[in-house]
Amino acid sequence: MTAISHMTTAMTERAAAAAARFVVVLGAALLTAVSTALAQTSEAAESSSSDIAVADAVARGRAKYAQTCAPCHARAPGGDMRYAMPGTRALAIKYRGALPAALEDRSDLSYEVLRVFVRNGSWSMPPFRPTELGDEEIRDIAAYLAVSSRGQANANR
Ligand code: HEC
Repeated sequence: MTAISHMTTAMTERAAAAAARFVVVLGAALLTAVSTALAQTSEAAESSSSDIAVADAVARGRAKYAQTCAPCHARAPGGDMRYAMPGTRALAIKYRGALPAALEDRSDLSYEVLRVFVRNGSWSMPPFRPTELGDEEIRDIAAYLAVSSRGQANANR
């Protein structure tokens, strides 16, 4: 074999190795996607069989939100930010319309996300200690916000 053909063989092997690695990574990504989809499906099945528990959590969350968060995060009356409470006003400035200013109109606030902000605070938002607001209460608030953002907050159910 000539030096050139040696080099070509080595390069081809490297390319093949790289391709093999790519296939493995792709396979892993696919597996993750499939298992995530399966997990979501089973979650959906569980929640449909516990509608009453969800409704209870939403009701508790709505009351807790009204008492603890709405004083700063209520929707601005008439949508006019001049009359907005400090949380709503601050978020209107932060997102400039890219996200709704009122938490009740957001659909992206999971329990995990809420918990980070509630436990740590954020700028002028004070942190809440677990003795003031338990994790279960944050979970209830997340359940309420998931519903309120779908425009069902005032649906009587
Ligand atoms: C004393 C007023 C006040 C109270 C009470 C308050 N917040 Fe806030 N909150 C704020 C302010 C102001 C901001 C915006 C801070 C900033 O500019 O980043 C904020 C930000 C947030 C954010 C971040 C949103 C984002 O996208 O940046 C979340 C989530 C949040 N608050 C949830 C809550 C929840 C849930 C409660 C009730 C348990 C609550 N807050 C109570 C004032 C308050």
